[in-house]
Amino acid sequence: MKVAGRTTAITPFYAMEVLKAANERAAQGNNVLHMEVGEPAGGAPAAVLQAAKEALENGQGLGYTEALGVPALRQAISDHYKTTGNLDVDPGHVVVTTGSSGGFLLAFLAAFDAGDRVALASPGYPAYRNIMAALGIEAVDLASDIGDRFQPTPALLDAAIEQGGKLAGLLIASPANPTGTMLDHDALKALVDYCRARDIRIISDEVYHGITYGAPAETIVALDDQAIAVNSFSKYFAMTGWRLGWMVLPDDLVRPIERLAQNLFISPPTLSQLAAVAAFDAEPELDAKVAAYARNREMLLRELPKVGFDKLAPADGAFYIFADVRHLTNDSADFCKRMLAETGVAATPGIDFDPNRGHAYIRFSFAGAYDDMVKAVACLKDWMK
Ligand SMILES: Cc1ncc(COP(=O)(O)O)c(C=O)c1O
Repeated sequence: MKVAGRTTAITPFYAMEVLKAANERAAQGNNVLHMEVGEPAGGAPAAVLQAAKEALENGQGLGYTEALGVPALRQAISDHYKTTGNLDVDPGHVVVTTGSSGGFLLAFLAAFDAGDRVALASPGYPAYRNIMAALGIEAVDLASDIGDRFQPTPALLDAAIEQGGKLAGLLIASPANPTGTMLDHDALKALVDYCRARDIRIISDEVYHGITYGAPAETIVALDDQAIAVNSFSKYFAMTGWRLGWMVLPDDLVRPIERLAQNLFISPPTLSQLAAVAAFDAEPELDAKVAAYARNREMLLRELPKVGFDKLAPADGAFYIFADVRHLTNDSADFCKRMLAETGVAATPGIDFDPNRGHAYIRFSFAGAYDDMVKAVACLKDWMK
């Protein structure tokens, strides 16, 4: 039988393959120190669990909701922008989605046609280009490096336009996965000005907002009313499996996205929506998680160079350290496989994030427990000798 041609362009997510190998190793009774997946430890805050329990016990009935989300959650998200950035966001422009992943699908479908060119930094989160590939949108890699903090720049955009013609969109992520690097205000403003002058729609992945170690991340909502901001309950709010995210949309995309959402998803998960309203009151608990990531980060940035991983991206936010390992290997997938087999430390090869240059990089996630990170460094120290 036929299998659609578009599926051949979709690459596997190697982090999940490493996770599978790590779980197999653990099932055989061997030690595993997980530094491969970007998942917050500990799960959803207590207030969210309590709200979910109450929603179930009160027999609220968990039927479908409005396609764009329950009004109470859209209002709570709008209030969150007021509290965190003194921004007025119309709750009518807030759209609740099935994870930010559902948001990206809706955003790309609503903003771009098949054949459109959309630029994004490489290395980057692989689902962006894989969702684009599934939709026939051309992902235009901006080959960024440590010099531009692995972020898009007007010069990289100029080169992309010169080489391949007009761009319909630019995807940015700050903090970014896998590098953890951020765009400061001036860099973000320069991209907004560049794109506004050329009718390029910005989609801003803000799923790691709230997890930063210096200056807080700036939302595109403050700078560009034509951009799409995509956010999630998965990372700062530690609710990965609840499958809930949101977008703040420009006026012209609200109705198109509502029509798409009605048909593609009917509604985001109801129980998750009812519970997520309480997430915004859980700041102390969530900030304690960020403090734990900060402790892991500080230890790893100090210790990894001592064991031989000494070319590290700045890690301004998120919970990743992106290490240049070209002095150790020219095949990061094989390197990660051997590292897991010989030390139990699971990390992700850079090819997940940059198919062309990722063979020279690996990504360590430090979302896990501090003691595991300390053990991982000790194992790597022996191994690297
Ligand atoms: C940069 C980035 N964006 C989006 C996502 C998708 O997350 P979710 O669909 O759980 O919101 C992830 C998940 O790891 C990510 O790292």
